[in-house]
Amino acid sequence: MEPNLMRRVQRYGWDKAAPVYEQFWAAQLLPAQERLLERANLQPGERVLDVACGTGLATFPAAEQVGQAGEVVGTDISAQMIADATALATERGVTNTRFVRTDAEALKLDDGEAPFDVAICALGLMYVPDPVAAIRKMAESVRPGGRVVAAVWGHRKHCGWAEIFPIVDARVESDVCPMFFGLGTGNALELGFQQAGLVEITEDRLSVSLEYAGVEDALGAAFAGGPVALAYARFDASTKAAAHDEYLASIEPFRSGTGYSIPGEFVVVSGTVPA
Ligand SMILES: C[S@@+](CC[C@H](N)C(=O)[O-])C[C@H]1O[C@@H](n2cnc3c(N)ncnc32)[C@H](O)[C@@H]1O
Repeated sequence: MEPNLMRRVQRYGWDKAAPVYEQFWAAQLLPAQERLLERANLQPGERVLDVACGTGLATFPAAEQVGQAGEVVGTDISAQMIADATALATERGVTNTRFVRTDAEALKLDDGEAPFDVAICALGLMYVPDPVAAIRKMAESVRPGGRVVAAVWGHRKHCGWAEIFPIVDARVESDVCPMFFGLGTGNALELGFQQAGLVEITEDRLSVSLEYAGVEDALGAAFAGGPVALAYARFDASTKAAAHDEYLASIEPFRSGTGYSIPGEFVVVSGTVPA
């Protein structure tokens, strides 16, 4: 897919997914965000950059860890995600976060912004046309000796919901998310960190189970609340119904009673900016 088209699909797709994103994904993504923050080893007073922050599921715990003397700047390509994260900060009385709409590969922050101590990216790099460019930007934004940590989905065959992509692709003109599982395969993310010049690289692979209480939640996560939201929003009722049936058939092996326990895998990689 042409990079600018991919960025537009992501930007407007996540604008659509934002209102239901936490409802369908907050619990399921928690193990990846927790491991990422463990690896980030945030200290009171540190400044953190959170790339592709979404509604702030990793930003807010990071802000709590760095405390009032620290700060977390969340960035995302989706204006709706940035608006929602900003509103949540106000609602919760959080004063040490700031949210900026900017592309991960370009990362336009205020001139004179001091280097960060740590840059994190939870489940965002799969959507960026050139993930190594985004990792390099994260590394450039961090002081020498600082940390960069990213989490991505793992290997396609370990993610039980993976059929969502061919099912939606078959009903649109172009691939909705061509590189989705690329970074989770083999040591691709680790290699990306090396290419971006990071050192002391570690990799964790986590097997998880994505629990959904019923059909509505399983469908909501896969279609309206996730990476195919833009294409899905344009389907007519009969296309939606056919895609739902096909997806439910693909996750049938993971049904338990009226709900679903869908296998998933995350990869978390951390590195240090050379001194
Ligand atoms: C699955 S959500 C993850 C959000 C959050 N980090 C979390 O852990 O819940 C993916 C996010 O990546 C953002 N995104 C996609 N492409 C991007 C890009 N090129 N630059 C910045 N953000 C991007 C989307 O807008 C979306 O908010």
